[in-house]
Amino acid sequence: MYINSLTLRDFRSHAHTELEFTRDVNVLWGENGAGKTNLLEAVFLFASGKSFRGQTDKELISFGKPESYLKLVFTDRFSEHVLEMNLYKNRRRLLFKDGCEIKRLSEYLGLFRAVVFTPDHLKIIKASPENRRRLADIAICQTFPRYVASLSEYNRILLQKNNLLKSGVTELSLPMLEIYNERLAQLSAVITLNRYNYINRLGEKAAVYMNEMTEGKEELRLVYETQYGGVFTREELYKNCLALYKRRQEAEISKRVTLCGCHHDDFAVMINSKDARSYASQGQQRSAVLALKLAEGELAKVYTGEESVFLFDDVLSELDEKRRAYVTQKLTSRQFILTGCDAPAEGVTAFRVHNAARAAEDGTERE
Ligand SMILES: Nc1ncnc2c1ncn2[C@@H]1O[C@H](COP(=O)(O)OP(=O)(O)O)[C@@H](O)[C@H]1O
Ligand SMILES: [Mg+2]
Repeated sequence: MYINSLTLRDFRSHAHTELEFTRDVNVLWGENGAGKTNLLEAVFLFASGKSFRGQTDKELISFGKPESYLKLVFTDRFSEHVLEMNLYKNRRRLLFKDGCEIKRLSEYLGLFRAVVFTPDHLKIIKASPENRRRLADIAICQTFPRYVASLSEYNRILLQKNNLLKSGVTELSLPMLEIYNERLAQLSAVITLNRYNYINRLGEKAAVYMNEMTEGKEELRLVYETQYGGVFTREELYKNCLALYKRRQEAEISKRVTLCGCHHDDFAVMINSKDARSYASQGQQRSAVLALKLAEGELAKVYTGEESVFLFDDVLSELDEKRRAYVTQKLTSRQFILTGCDAPAEGVTAFRVHNAARAAEDGTERE
């Protein structure tokens, strides 16, 4: 799929911006603070429902404005679609697909698909497990919108259980703790299994990219890790997780926090059989993340039949010549929206981005 156009009103630094993209490589360039990342953030909002900077709707609205309006026109393998979004300060956003309101985010997710790659991702291999889980979760949510519901229910119940533990478990509230454990174990099984399958498939694809990129020198493998042993079936996961809650009940009660469940899962990135979390060089990390990002798009295509749009924020300048060349050769037949500080080579579709509030006169224009 590819984006035809993007329209923003009162979104971050963009009072009114309209862009028409080409189906291959598009470069957004301009000085720091010009509003380039804001544009990618807007596009990604349509894919994941969330900002990749982790902000609330209120913060996305231009300073001093009551609301934002965003419109994305894209074409999938069947037809052209229009997605619209209204963001408000103090009430729920409104979502529209082809002019019809959509009430649930889960019906919206998966319509438009994008892979985002930011300088933050370059650190993902050595970052905390939470960062790696989030990477998997965002990708899975786009591919399996129902996964969102499991994740949010899990987080809600985890919070309730933690509140109960914090206030101190009594004989009276013990049955409640068991009810929470039961549901958390069910949801952990669903979530872990989804992530496990996803990470394994992602690893297979990423290994191919890694191999190509390093001319066979680096072998990449992803290994999913849980607190409850190997992952096989949902039933087994559920049983193991519930058993773990039983075994660690005393500890959870005395530490006053939930110690087990899928919010402790992680995955190891192995490069040449060494754990990259502790051993990878800067260069290996970059290749591995690039391979993971390309694989993410490829996997979405396997699952859904649709090519994702790739959003690369400021990362090309971080990659060395060899990796950059690899990307530019791999770019064919996919839509890329790249940002950078410098004007791109001739022949590439480029948009100069200005911060109108700062530069006074103009917005973003195609060159
Ligand atoms: N809610 C907002 N309203 C208006 N301007 C905003 C808002 N949020 C961020 N900005 C502005 O956006 C600019 C940063 O844009 P960004 O897209 O990150 O720039 P870059 O081109 O460097 O990627 C800053 O000038 C910041 O003040
Ligand atoms: Mg930026």
